[in-house]
Amino acid sequence: MIIAGNWKMNPNQAAANALLEAFAAHRNIFQPDCQALCFPPACYYAMAAQKLAGTAMQWGAQNCHQEQAGAYTGEISAQMIADMGGRWVIIGHSERRQYFGETDNLIMEKIDAARAAGLRPILCVGEPEEVRLKGGQDDFVQGQMAASLENIIKMSLADQKTALEKLVIAYEPVWAIGTGKVASLQNIAEMHQGLCDKLIALFGAGLPEKNVPILYGGSVNSQNAADILAIDKVSGALVGGASLEADGFFAIYQAAIENRPN
Ligand code: 13P
Repeated sequence: MIIAGNWKMNPNQAAANALLEAFAAHRNIFQPDCQALCFPPACYYAMAAQKLAGTAMQWGAQNCHQEQAGAYTGEISAQMIADMGGRWVIIGHSERRQYFGETDNLIMEKIDAARAAGLRPILCVGEPEEVRLKGGQDDFVQGQMAASLENIIKMSLADQKTALEKLVIAYEPVWAIGTGKVASLQNIAEMHQGLCDKLIALFGAGLPEKNVPILYGGSVNSQNAADILAIDKVSGALVGGASLEADGFFAIYQAAIENRPN
């Protein structure tokens, strides 16, 4: 199980400090087989590295640039995130696709950059409401995933295994993000099963033994987490709003502990 808090462009410095201190103070609740993660904005990387040192919670970035270094004003490379102590990076979040024009091809390059820097990428996929209303959600999200993994598809079996061992997928239906509208348990189960089947079709023997974890994201909170995390192919949650309160995050984390596979 993986429980990841995507802070997005929140909170202010004092609240970020308080949140990280709460995580550090409750370090004993974090279990080795249930990975807790947080994704602060870049201005708090140093704070996260310092406050989370000695805890089992890891942190990552919400985005990275596809190049290693250079004249890209305002950007941050995967190597810089790794140098600061970050271990993870969210790539292709629907807000990056929607507001920053990120394409599947760019997302593929960012996954490569993350891998080169030793970061674990969390690749986000998810359909907008209009696609779901027409019933095209399976092809849409599986297409996003396959297009972003094209470079991994072309690798030798051994390299594929190494790459896939680090990869995490997050299914986040766009219409469920920040809206309070959660996908039904049946919808989530079907979408995760579809992504799982697609990974098998794409990689087969190249897949790691425990498969690639697929997280669900979209209005997850302390009330609905237990039911969502109990779904067979759900390996965790990518949480936005509810991850900004320590108690909310801990309640979701607790639900994950109760639902971890034996
Ligand atoms: P909410 O949990 O606020 O809906 O956000 C989900 C999300 O986008 C996490 O990446």
